[in-house]
Amino acid sequence: MRSIVIEDHFVAWRAASLGALGEDLAPETIEWRVKQEPEASQEQALFDYGATSEQAKPRPTAVHVSKELASLLQDAALYRESQRWAFLYKVLWRWQHGDRAVASPADADGARLHRMAKSVRRARHDMIAYVRFRKQTSASAVQTPEYIAWYEPEHDVLAWVAEHFAQRMGRSTWMITTPRGAAFWDGQQLHLEQRRTLPADHRSDTADEAEALWLAYYRSTFNPARLNEAALEQHMPVRFWKGLPEGHLIPAMISEAKSGARRVAQASGVGALGGKTIPIEADMAQPVRDQPSSLDTCRRCDLWRNATQAVGSSGPSDARIMLIGEQPGDQEDLSGQPFVGPAGQLLTIAITRAGLSRDQVYLTNAVKHFKWEPRGKRRLHKTPGQREIEACSYWLERELHTVRPAVIVALGATALTALLRGKVSLRDHLDAPFRVEGGWGIATYHPSFALRQQNDADRDKVLAEISNALIRARELAESDTLTATKPQQ
Ligand code: URA
Repeated sequence: MRSIVIEDHFVAWRAASLGALGEDLAPETIEWRVKQEPEASQEQALFDYGATSEQAKPRPTAVHVSKELASLLQDAALYRESQRWAFLYKVLWRWQHGDRAVASPADADGARLHRMAKSVRRARHDMIAYVRFRKQTSASAVQTPEYIAWYEPEHDVLAWVAEHFAQRMGRSTWMITTPRGAAFWDGQQLHLEQRRTLPADHRSDTADEAEALWLAYYRSTFNPARLNEAALEQHMPVRFWKGLPEGHLIPAMISEAKSGARRVAQASGVGALGGKTIPIEADMAQPVRDQPSSLDTCRRCDLWRNATQAVGSSGPSDARIMLIGEQPGDQEDLSGQPFVGPAGQLLTIAITRAGLSRDQVYLTNAVKHFKWEPRGKRRLHKTPGQREIEACSYWLERELHTVRPAVIVALGATALTALLRGKVSLRDHLDAPFRVEGGWGIATYHPSFALRQQNDADRDKVLAEISNALIRARELAESDTLTATKPQQ
């Protein structure tokens, strides 16, 4: 077994490896050891390329490796692992013996090499991203760098990263310290030192104004309402927090966000938004919905999904009286005609009692699709919501525009809401006609309300109310005054 002692860096390993290859030393016959500083002067290695004299060195052999392998070896050499030099020699030895597979990720050694190089490149990238320099207050003192940073890299990437900063920070002097060494830039030249670190409390000896500003800025941009802890930790892994000035703020901000700040911020954040207020009509604020070409193709809300078909109107398009119901029921949904079920039959009675006929009036609904929920084998009527009423108002408005009735009778609360475009109380409108759409509006009960009464007497009472409302509608429609006020078609 041959023991090779080298300094702990790529150049030393390369020189030693070329010598070992010159002797055709198989990997398993070598024990690679790193020269420890204190022992360097005392211990005489058996085969120490770093320490032995020129004459003692065996003739190095020439090795031609591909560009890719050269860069993999160089990067992997920075991977922190005690066996790295032995492993890299094994790779080089296999390559030198014609085994090109060793550079391929499909090979076990190749895969390990690629993994090591990749991890080192990531560590370099992380270090560049997360090193934070703090301005020193005592920079006037000779040899004290203006900026100091502390960082704990995962691999030996300090020299690599120091080159990066040396090219970017101009003449400002700085030092990056790590647990295993430090890099110092004096404004012109880079100095790398092994195992030089700052005192443990180095982070508190700075009164960096820029850092105070940065912390204030960081705090103010942190939006607890939008906190996504997983994403935060993915982008800025926890292990880097300790090296960042803002790192100590993060856990507190996360816990504040969790304990209520999230909701408060949501409310106050929206309320505090600056900018110009743009007044907008309520109907313009509605979601943009596709305009269907016909009722059959209407998808303005989701009710079409469970309905057999859309149910339109019946009656003449020049009718002077329009009756608006709520929505088609089970039978209307199947037949496609409004008011043909039990409620429709009761309505027909009320219409007749009012001295009108169904052919004279225009019958329609506020909502054109049947909204229901299953109850055993039955489809049970479900009251449409405001959203559905609003979505369907598109059709009602077209009908109102086309028919231009002198009197509009709203049968029940949903119809009244649709007609007056907002939630209103039916009770408040029952007693007197009101002006609407250039004509008169009358509110009354929906015939299904009569159907729901417990006894005949109550049912007749509601039916009578509906008939009376229709009588009033007929009278208003017939009155000369109204004829004069009806808009021309
Ligand atoms: N109820 C309504 O409101 N409309 C109909 O078409 C049927 C029942």
